[in-house]
Amino acid sequence: MAEKRAFVTGHPIAHSRSPKIHGHWLARYGIDGSYRAIDVAPDDFAAFLNGLRDNGFQGGNVTIPHKEAAFALVERRDEAAEAIGAVNTLWFEDGKLWGGNTDAHGFAANLDDYAPGWAANGPAVVLGAGGASRAVIHALKERGVGDIRIVNRTLARAEELSHRFGAGVSAHRADAVGDLLADAGLLVNTTALGMHGNEGLSADPAGLPDHAIVTDIVYVPLETPLLAAARGRGLWTVDGLGMLLHQAVPGFERWFGTRPEVTAELRRMIIADI
Ligand code: ATR
Repeated sequence: MAEKRAFVTGHPIAHSRSPKIHGHWLARYGIDGSYRAIDVAPDDFAAFLNGLRDNGFQGGNVTIPHKEAAFALVERRDEAAEAIGAVNTLWFEDGKLWGGNTDAHGFAANLDDYAPGWAANGPAVVLGAGGASRAVIHALKERGVGDIRIVNRTLARAEELSHRFGAGVSAHRADAVGDLLADAGLLVNTTALGMHGNEGLSADPAGLPDHAIVTDIVYVPLETPLLAAARGRGLWTVDGLGMLLHQAVPGFERWFGTRPEVTAELRRMIIADI
């Protein structure tokens, strides 16, 4: 049988860790397949999608800046992509090009691994109102978190999301964060604050109750200033690397036919590369 081929496309794409993750699984499961990074400029993205089938691809991943364009261009979308408004995974099914979003799955599966029972921990405070925040809110709603508080520098963007996701999702200004944390069970940072090169803490975990869980979707560095402060205060913390690893699982299964495992070995391999 011919080699199965998949890709990740973005612009730029050199920084992507996806080829390492999928390459590890291809080797581990002995699959005759390939997964490579392809840099596609925004102007060329539609033509790239049109050529996928002729170029022998089973599908692939889509990252910045193509997630919204992919959403608009695919023939069918899964429920998560519809809810989030962005596509990060492409595959062919029944002769159609499908677009899905696996970021919400990745977020929830990471917390399932490191903070079982997390969804029943109480109100959630979500910092940020961009694309990553939409995936997190979708995951929280799916898992039944009934009180989701979005805090954002630009209130209008948080309000947009609160309308988009409806009941139980509220929008707040950044200066209200102290009050919102007092009875929260989960604090999620979805902003780039705390990433290498970006300054500072976006919320002070000191105000959280003792049972609260703090997680960051940023994984470079693995321990962000927010997670360090939370850990210093004795709170349970979960870093963002597992979200990256778990969001890759559904795509690999669709393209290569094996559901891969997120193992400690894979995690160590990616950490060595950070
Ligand atoms: P992504 O798709 O990764 O979520 P995004 O859509 O650009 O990226 O959203 C970035 C988020 O980080 C936004 O919530 C943004 O706040 P604004 O909506 O006010 O722009 C937030 N963010 C980025 N830099 C920030 C900063 N210096 N201070 C506060 N919030 C910041």
